[in-house]
Amino acid sequence: MSTQEQLDSVRRNFLTDIESFPQNSKEISELKSKYLGRKGEIASLFPLLGKVSESERPQLGQKLNLLKKELSNIFKEKELSITKNSNSERESSIDFTLPGRMQPNGSLHILEQTLSEIKEIFKNIGFHIAYGQEVDDEYHNFTALNVPEHHPSRDMQDTFFINPEIVLRSHTSNVQIHLMESLDPPIKFVVPGRVYRNESISYKSYCLFHQIEGIYINNNVSFSELKGCLEYFIKQMFGPNKKMRFRPSFFPFTEPSGEVDIWDDDRKQWMEILGCGMVDPNVLENVGYDPKIWKGYAFGMGIERIAMLKYKVDDIRLFYNGDIRFLEQF
Ligand code: PHE
Repeated sequence: MSTQEQLDSVRRNFLTDIESFPQNSKEISELKSKYLGRKGEIASLFPLLGKVSESERPQLGQKLNLLKKELSNIFKEKELSITKNSNSERESSIDFTLPGRMQPNGSLHILEQTLSEIKEIFKNIGFHIAYGQEVDDEYHNFTALNVPEHHPSRDMQDTFFINPEIVLRSHTSNVQIHLMESLDPPIKFVVPGRVYRNESISYKSYCLFHQIEGIYINNNVSFSELKGCLEYFIKQMFGPNKKMRFRPSFFPFTEPSGEVDIWDDDRKQWMEILGCGMVDPNVLENVGYDPKIWKGYAFGMGIERIAMLKYKVDDIRLFYNGDIRFLEQF
Protein backbone atom coordinates (compact mmCIF):
# COMPACT_ATOMS: atom_id res chain seq x y z
CA MET A 1 0.00 0.00 0.00
CA SER A 2 1.34 3.39 -0.89
CA THR A 3 1.44 6.04 1.79
CA GLN A 4 -1.42 7.79 0.05
CA GLU A 5 -3.48 4.62 0.13
CA GLN A 6 -2.76 4.15 3.83
CA LEU A 7 -3.96 7.70 4.54
CA ASP A 8 -7.05 7.16 2.45
CA SER A 9 -7.91 3.92 4.17
CA VAL A 10 -7.65 5.49 7.66
CA ARG A 11 -9.87 8.33 6.44
CA ARG A 12 -12.45 5.97 4.96
CA ASN A 13 -12.60 3.85 8.11
CA PHE A 14 -13.01 6.94 10.15
CA LEU A 15 -15.86 8.21 8.00
CA THR A 16 -17.68 4.86 8.26
CA ASP A 17 -17.21 4.80 12.03
CA ILE A 18 -18.45 8.32 12.55
CA GLU A 19 -21.39 7.74 10.17
CA SER A 20 -22.49 4.80 12.28
CA PHE A 21 -23.64 7.44 14.73
CA PRO A 22 -22.01 7.29 18.08
CA GLN A 23 -25.03 7.94 20.37
CA ASN A 24 -23.49 9.70 23.30
CA SER A 25 -20.41 11.54 24.45
CA LYS A 26 -18.89 8.34 25.85
CA GLU A 27 -18.98 6.65 22.45
CA ILE A 28 -17.59 9.79 20.82
CA SER A 29 -14.65 9.93 23.16
CA GLU A 30 -13.91 6.24 22.56
CA LEU A 31 -13.88 6.89 18.82
CA LYS A 32 -11.77 9.95 19.37
CA SER A 33 -9.06 8.06 21.19
CA LYS A 34 -9.20 5.33 18.50
CA TYR A 35 -8.26 7.89 15.85
CA LEU A 36 -6.68 10.88 17.55
CA GLY A 37 -5.28 9.26 20.70
CA ARG A 38 -1.58 8.95 21.39
CA LYS A 39 -1.58 5.42 20.03
CA GLY A 40 -4.42 6.03 17.62
CA GLU A 41 -4.72 5.54 13.89
CA ILE A 42 -3.41 9.00 13.00
CA ALA A 43 -0.42 8.72 15.33
CA SER A 44 0.43 5.41 13.75
CA LEU A 45 0.70 7.12 10.37
CA PHE A 46 3.38 9.57 11.44
CA PRO A 47 6.23 7.02 11.38
CA LEU A 48 5.63 6.92 7.62
CA LEU A 49 7.44 10.27 7.51
CA GLY A 50 10.67 8.44 8.25
CA LYS A 51 10.10 6.01 5.42
CA VAL A 52 9.57 8.43 2.55
CA SER A 53 12.24 10.35 0.70
CA GLU A 54 13.29 13.74 1.92
CA SER A 55 11.64 15.48 -1.05
CA GLU A 56 8.27 13.81 -0.37
CA ARG A 57 8.44 14.43 3.40
CA PRO A 58 7.06 18.01 3.58
CA GLN A 59 4.09 17.12 1.38
CA LEU A 60 3.27 14.03 3.42
CA GLY A 61 3.63 16.01 6.63
CA GLN A 62 1.14 18.53 5.32
CA LYS A 63 -1.32 15.81 4.29
CA LEU A 64 -1.07 14.15 7.70
CA ASN A 65 -1.70 17.44 9.48
CA LEU A 66 -4.66 18.20 7.22
CA LEU A 67 -6.15 14.78 7.90
CA LYS A 68 -5.69 15.21 11.62
CA LYS A 69 -7.36 18.60 11.46
CA GLU A 70 -10.27 17.30 9.41
CA LEU A 71 -10.92 14.52 11.93
CA SER A 72 -10.78 16.74 14.93
CA ASN A 73 -13.16 19.23 13.26
CA ILE A 74 -15.64 16.47 12.58
CA PHE A 75 -15.33 15.31 16.20
CA LYS A 76 -16.02 18.84 17.42
CA GLU A 77 -19.17 19.11 15.32
CA LYS A 78 -20.34 15.70 16.47
CA GLU A 79 -19.79 16.54 20.14
CA LEU A 80 -21.69 19.77 19.72
CA SER A 81 -24.64 18.13 18.06
CA ILE A 82 -24.81 15.46 20.77
CA THR A 83 -25.00 18.00 23.62
CA LYS A 84 -27.59 19.97 21.66
CA ASN A 85 -29.69 16.87 21.13
CA SER A 86 -29.68 15.91 24.74
CA ASN A 87 -30.76 19.45 25.64
CA SER A 88 -33.55 19.46 23.13
CA GLU A 89 -34.68 16.06 24.38
CA ARG A 90 -35.05 17.60 27.81
CA GLU A 91 -36.88 20.59 26.37
CA SER A 92 -39.23 18.50 24.32
CA SER A 93 -40.34 16.62 27.44
CA ILE A 94 -42.01 19.87 28.60
CA ASP A 95 -45.40 20.35 27.03
CA PHE A 96 -46.01 24.07 26.89
CA THR A 97 -49.57 23.60 25.72
CA LEU A 98 -50.70 21.88 28.93
CA PRO A 99 -52.92 24.08 31.12
CA GLY A 100 -51.20 25.38 34.26
CA ARG A 101 -51.88 23.97 37.69
CA MET A 102 -54.61 26.06 39.29
CA GLN A 103 -53.95 27.32 42.80
CA PRO A 104 -57.12 27.53 44.84
CA ASN A 105 -57.98 31.12 45.72
CA GLY A 106 -58.51 31.96 49.36
CA SER A 107 -61.12 34.47 50.39
CA LEU A 108 -61.67 36.92 53.19
CA HIS A 109 -63.35 35.54 56.29
CA ILE A 110 -67.01 36.44 56.37
CA LEU A 111 -66.47 38.61 59.46
CA GLU A 112 -63.79 40.56 57.62
CA GLN A 113 -66.15 41.00 54.66
CA THR A 114 -68.94 42.20 56.93
CA LEU A 115 -66.58 44.59 58.69
CA SER A 116 -65.45 46.04 55.35
CA GLU A 117 -69.06 46.72 54.38
CA ILE A 118 -69.76 48.40 57.73
CA LYS A 119 -66.62 50.57 57.55
CA GLU A 120 -67.49 51.62 54.02
CA ILE A 121 -70.96 52.79 55.03
CA PHE A 122 -69.62 54.89 57.90
CA LYS A 123 -66.78 56.29 55.83
CA ASN A 124 -69.38 57.57 53.37
CA ILE A 125 -71.00 59.67 56.08
CA GLY A 126 -67.80 61.24 57.33
CA PHE A 127 -66.45 58.86 59.97
CA HIS A 128 -62.71 58.29 60.27
CA ILE A 129 -61.40 54.87 61.22
CA ALA A 130 -59.23 54.23 64.28
CA TYR A 131 -58.01 51.17 66.14
CA GLY A 132 -57.23 50.68 69.78
CA GLN A 133 -55.74 48.25 72.24
CA GLU A 134 -57.30 44.95 73.30
CA VAL A 135 -55.40 44.83 76.59
CA ASP A 136 -56.14 47.91 78.61
CA ASP A 137 -56.34 49.21 82.15
CA GLU A 138 -59.52 49.25 84.16
CA TYR A 139 -59.53 53.02 83.98
CA HIS A 140 -60.05 53.13 80.20
CA ASN A 141 -62.32 50.12 80.03
CA PHE A 142 -64.55 51.16 82.96
CA THR A 143 -63.70 54.08 85.24
CA ALA A 144 -63.35 56.84 82.65
CA LEU A 145 -66.56 55.55 81.07
CA ASN A 146 -68.41 56.34 84.27
CA VAL A 147 -68.84 52.67 85.20
CA PRO A 148 -69.23 52.65 88.97
CA GLU A 149 -66.72 50.79 91.13
CA HIS A 150 -69.18 48.04 91.99
CA HIS A 151 -70.90 47.64 88.65
CA PRO A 152 -71.52 43.94 87.91
CA SER A 153 -69.82 44.13 84.50
CA ARG A 154 -66.47 44.64 86.25
CA ASP A 155 -67.05 41.36 87.99
CA MET A 156 -64.87 38.37 87.20
CA GLN A 157 -68.07 36.84 85.78
CA ASP A 158 -68.01 39.14 82.78
CA THR A 159 -64.52 40.51 82.34
CA PHE A 160 -61.26 38.67 81.87
CA PHE A 161 -58.75 40.23 84.27
CA ILE A 162 -55.07 39.83 83.48
CA ASN A 163 -54.21 41.24 86.88
CA PRO A 164 -56.28 43.40 89.28
CA GLU A 165 -55.76 46.52 87.10
CA ILE A 166 -55.43 45.16 83.57
CA VAL A 167 -58.25 43.60 81.55
CA LEU A 168 -58.97 42.16 78.13
CA ARG A 169 -61.29 44.92 77.00
CA SER A 170 -64.93 43.98 77.35
CA HIS A 171 -66.03 46.47 74.68
CA THR A 172 -64.49 48.84 72.13
CA SER A 173 -65.69 51.81 74.22
CA ASN A 174 -62.21 52.02 75.80
CA VAL A 175 -61.06 53.57 72.51
CA GLN A 176 -63.60 56.41 72.94
CA ILE A 177 -61.53 57.48 75.93
CA HIS A 178 -58.13 57.09 74.22
CA LEU A 179 -59.35 59.09 71.23
CA MET A 180 -60.81 61.93 73.30
CA GLU A 181 -57.72 62.03 75.52
CA SER A 182 -55.45 62.51 72.55
CA LEU A 183 -57.56 64.65 70.19
CA ASP A 184 -59.33 67.96 70.48
CA PRO A 185 -62.99 68.03 69.47
CA PRO A 186 -64.76 67.82 67.08
CA ILE A 187 -64.10 64.13 66.40
CA LYS A 188 -65.96 61.55 64.34
CA PHE A 189 -64.64 57.99 64.41
CA VAL A 190 -65.58 54.37 64.04
CA VAL A 191 -63.36 51.84 65.79
CA PRO A 192 -63.49 48.16 64.89
CA GLY A 193 -61.93 45.53 67.09
CA ARG A 194 -62.07 42.38 69.16
CA VAL A 195 -63.59 42.29 72.59
CA TYR A 196 -63.65 39.59 75.26
CA ARG A 197 -66.29 38.53 77.74
CA ASN A 198 -66.52 35.73 80.20
CA GLU A 199 -70.07 34.91 79.13
CA SER A 200 -71.90 31.64 78.94
CA ILE A 201 -71.51 30.47 75.38
CA SER A 202 -74.60 30.02 73.22
CA TYR A 203 -75.69 30.37 69.59
CA LYS A 204 -75.50 34.16 69.98
CA SER A 205 -72.75 34.69 72.59
CA TYR A 206 -69.10 33.75 72.54
CA CYS A 207 -66.13 34.53 74.81
CA LEU A 208 -64.67 36.78 72.14
CA PHE A 209 -66.40 38.72 69.42
CA HIS A 210 -66.05 41.90 67.39
CA GLN A 211 -67.58 45.31 67.83
CA ILE A 212 -67.45 48.52 65.95
CA GLU A 213 -67.62 51.60 68.13
CA GLY A 214 -68.84 54.94 66.87
CA ILE A 215 -68.15 58.28 68.48
CA TYR A 216 -69.12 61.71 67.25
CA ILE A 217 -68.45 64.84 69.31
CA ASN A 218 -69.31 68.34 68.12
CA ASN A 219 -70.98 71.55 69.27
CA ASN A 220 -74.56 70.67 68.62
CA VAL A 221 -75.07 66.96 68.25
CA SER A 222 -78.62 65.77 68.87
CA PHE A 223 -80.22 62.45 69.67
CA SER A 224 -82.17 62.60 66.41
CA GLU A 225 -78.86 62.76 64.54
CA LEU A 226 -77.85 59.56 66.29
CA LYS A 227 -81.12 57.93 65.26
CA GLY A 228 -80.74 59.18 61.70
CA CYS A 229 -77.21 57.88 61.47
CA LEU A 230 -78.14 54.40 62.72
CA GLU A 231 -81.25 54.17 60.56
CA TYR A 232 -79.16 55.12 57.56
CA PHE A 233 -76.62 52.47 58.47
CA ILE A 234 -79.21 49.72 58.86
CA LYS A 235 -80.91 50.59 55.57
CA GLN A 236 -77.56 50.50 53.78
CA MET A 237 -76.56 47.25 55.43
CA PHE A 238 -79.82 45.30 55.25
CA GLY A 239 -81.85 47.05 52.57
CA PRO A 240 -84.75 49.50 53.05
CA ASN A 241 -87.32 46.97 54.25
CA LYS A 242 -85.56 45.37 57.21
CA LYS A 243 -87.60 45.65 60.39
CA MET A 244 -85.76 47.46 63.19
CA ARG A 245 -86.66 49.11 66.48
CA PHE A 246 -85.13 51.49 69.01
CA ARG A 247 -85.57 50.61 72.66
CA PRO A 248 -84.65 52.74 75.65
CA SER A 249 -81.82 51.20 77.62
CA PHE A 250 -79.10 52.08 80.09
CA PHE A 251 -75.33 52.43 79.85
CA PRO A 252 -73.24 54.27 82.44
CA PHE A 253 -71.42 56.19 79.71
CA THR A 254 -74.45 57.47 77.76
CA GLU A 255 -77.54 59.41 78.78
CA PRO A 256 -80.11 58.87 77.41
CA SER A 257 -79.27 55.39 76.12
CA GLY A 258 -80.89 53.09 73.66
CA GLU A 259 -80.54 49.77 71.92
CA VAL A 260 -81.39 48.72 68.40
CA ASP A 261 -82.93 45.37 67.56
CA ILE A 262 -83.29 43.83 64.14
CA TRP A 263 -86.02 41.36 63.25
CA ASP A 264 -84.62 37.86 62.79
CA ASP A 265 -86.81 36.40 60.04
CA ASP A 266 -85.75 32.84 60.72
CA ARG A 267 -86.14 32.75 64.48
CA LYS A 268 -89.14 35.13 64.34
CA GLN A 269 -87.74 37.23 67.15
CA TRP A 270 -85.81 40.45 67.75
CA MET A 271 -82.03 40.31 67.91
CA GLU A 272 -80.15 43.07 69.68
CA ILE A 273 -77.30 44.39 67.56
CA LEU A 274 -76.15 47.61 69.19
CA GLY A 275 -76.16 49.92 72.17
CA CYS A 276 -76.03 53.67 71.80
CA GLY A 277 -76.74 57.01 73.42
CA MET A 278 -75.64 60.58 74.03
CA VAL A 279 -72.19 60.67 75.64
CA ASP A 280 -72.62 61.23 79.37
CA PRO A 281 -71.28 64.63 80.55
CA ASN A 282 -69.20 62.80 83.19
CA VAL A 283 -67.32 61.02 80.42
CA LEU A 284 -66.66 64.32 78.63
CA GLU A 285 -65.33 65.76 81.87
CA ASN A 286 -63.09 62.73 82.45
CA VAL A 287 -61.30 63.38 79.17
CA GLY A 288 -61.14 67.14 79.63
CA TYR A 289 -63.87 68.13 77.15
CA ASP A 290 -66.11 70.92 78.45
CA PRO A 291 -69.65 69.43 78.52
CA LYS A 292 -71.14 72.92 78.24
CA ILE A 293 -69.51 73.33 74.83
CA TRP A 294 -69.34 69.76 73.48
CA LYS A 295 -71.97 67.11 72.99
CA GLY A 296 -71.87 63.83 71.23
CA TYR A 297 -73.25 60.43 70.59
CA ALA A 298 -71.69 56.99 70.72
CA PHE A 299 -72.71 53.52 69.70
CA GLY A 300 -71.24 50.05 69.78
CA MET A 301 -72.46 47.23 67.58
CA GLY A 302 -71.72 43.53 67.40
CA ILE A 303 -70.28 42.48 64.06
CA GLU A 304 -71.03 38.76 64.46
CA ARG A 305 -74.71 39.42 65.10
CA ILE A 306 -74.93 41.65 62.05
CA ALA A 307 -73.25 38.98 59.93
CA MET A 308 -75.58 36.33 61.38
CA LEU A 309 -78.65 38.34 60.38
CA LYS A 310 -77.38 39.38 56.99
CA TYR A 311 -75.94 36.02 55.92
CA LYS A 312 -78.34 33.77 57.84
CA VAL A 313 -75.70 32.15 60.04
CA ASP A 314 -77.52 30.40 62.85
CA ASP A 315 -74.67 29.96 65.35
CA ILE A 316 -71.96 32.46 66.35
CA ARG A 317 -69.52 29.61 67.02
CA LEU A 318 -69.35 28.86 63.29
CA PHE A 319 -67.29 32.03 62.86
CA TYR A 320 -64.57 30.61 65.07
CA ASN A 321 -64.23 26.89 64.47
CA GLY A 322 -62.52 27.27 61.09
CA ASP A 323 -64.68 24.66 59.34
CA ILE A 324 -63.82 24.93 55.65
CA ARG A 325 -67.35 23.87 54.63
CA PHE A 326 -68.70 26.96 56.39
CA LEU A 327 -65.96 29.33 55.25
CA GLU A 328 -66.26 28.30 51.60
CA GLN A 329 -69.86 29.48 51.45
CA PHE A 330 -68.83 33.12 51.42
N1 PHE B 1 -70.14 49.34 74.94
C1 PHE B 1 -71.52 48.95 74.89
C2 PHE B 1 -71.59 47.42 74.87
O1 PHE B 1 -70.61 46.79 74.66
C3 PHE B 1 -72.21 49.49 73.66
C4 PHE B 1 -72.29 50.97 73.64
C5 PHE B 1 -71.29 51.70 73.02
C6 PHE B 1 -73.36 51.62 74.21
C7 PHE B 1 -71.37 53.08 73.01
C8 PHE B 1 -73.45 52.99 74.19
C9 PHE B 1 -72.45 53.70 73.56
O2 PHE B 1 -72.65 46.84 75.06
